[in-house]
Amino acid sequence: MRAIVMREPGDADVLEMQEVERPAPGDGDLLVRVASSGVNRADLLQREGRYPAPAGYSEQVLGLEYAGTVEAVGHGVDRFAVGDAVMGITGGGGYAEFVVESASTAVAAPANLDLVQVGAVPEVFMTAFDAAFVQEGLLKDETLLVHAVGSGVGTAALQLGSRAGVTVIGTSRTPAKLERAAELGLTHGVVAEPGWPELIMKLTGGRGVDVILDLVGGPYLAGNQRVLAQRGRHIVVGVPGGLKAEIDLRALMGRRGSIRGTVLRARPVEEKAALARAFETQVLPGFDDGALQPVIDTVFPAAKASNAHRYMESNRNFGKILLEWG
Ligand SMILES: NC(=O)c1ccc[n+]([C@@H]2O[C@H](COP(=O)([O-])OP(=O)(O)OC[C@H]3O[C@@H](n4cnc5c(N)ncnc54)[C@H](OP(=O)(O)O)[C@@H]3O)[C@@H](O)[C@H]2O)c1
Repeated sequence: MRAIVMREPGDADVLEMQEVERPAPGDGDLLVRVASSGVNRADLLQREGRYPAPAGYSEQVLGLEYAGTVEAVGHGVDRFAVGDAVMGITGGGGYAEFVVESASTAVAAPANLDLVQVGAVPEVFMTAFDAAFVQEGLLKDETLLVHAVGSGVGTAALQLGSRAGVTVIGTSRTPAKLERAAELGLTHGVVAEPGWPELIMKLTGGRGVDVILDLVGGPYLAGNQRVLAQRGRHIVVGVPGGLKAEIDLRALMGRRGSIRGTVLRARPVEEKAALARAFETQVLPGFDDGALQPVIDTVFPAAKASNAHRYMESNRNFGKILLEWG
């Protein structure tokens, strides 16, 4: 099969299409013929040699998600059959014509979407749903702050929040992304420039926000502490801005607030399967009724994976970047 192989750690030029051995499904696995593979920030880090793949997953073939058609099933699989359209997250190896992953972590593709588009769903919608709703218990009538709201995860979180009746405030360094986010239901867009915490306090009538979905990290921590409401929950999902910052523990105590971090990739398969089941019942119907939609910036032919990486590095994308397997 064809796969995008990383020759060695380095810049985007180290990615190239190669013929590699097609994986075979083991007990409980699906072999999926991939229609599209999502590009994620973690892929850029892995390519640079800064984010090793978890045990059992390829170091050379990047890729954390797929959408495609079941080509074969391993022994004991009864949830899916050959020919079914599926999507899911994987620990690695997603930039390939075929992916093998546990059937327990796969989810039926939304029926009304083109299968290439479906590749824009799993990683960002599962991450946002899990962080804001499963882990932080975001409730209707609460306020959610999403940093980097124009990102893949940000646009998913924004839609999930709007659908749940949540007030969603989003930040971006790029004003044009806030305009586009408004079309997806963003309640307030805030340009991430000095003074953003004060503006958010003003927009919330001095109350602050209940949940912060943080896709930026270090440099926003001081501001996040200022805008956290009483009993507010801050969840750190991405840290492109920086890994370290000083925390004011008294401010956190005074708000009876919490801060936690999360990753999807390193979780045991049982936890990924539990998330997939919750996602099926609570999120999938939103694609069927049109409340949710994949937000796709660009679909690159898989052979142009280097260009896709460069594009993500430029921070110009609004929503997802995909690799299509034609
Ligand atoms: N924990 C997990 O399990 C998990 C899962 C998926 C993704 N993630 C993380 O979530 C984040 C979003 O992922 P994605 O794939 O949705 O990203 P994406 O679509 O590539 O968007 C990232 C956006 O973040 C903003 N940004 C980048 N560097 C920044 C900086 N230094 N300061 C402030 N803003 C910055 C940029 O938008 P503007 O500059 O225009 O605002 C950029 O377009 C990433 O950090 C990713 O690693 C984590």
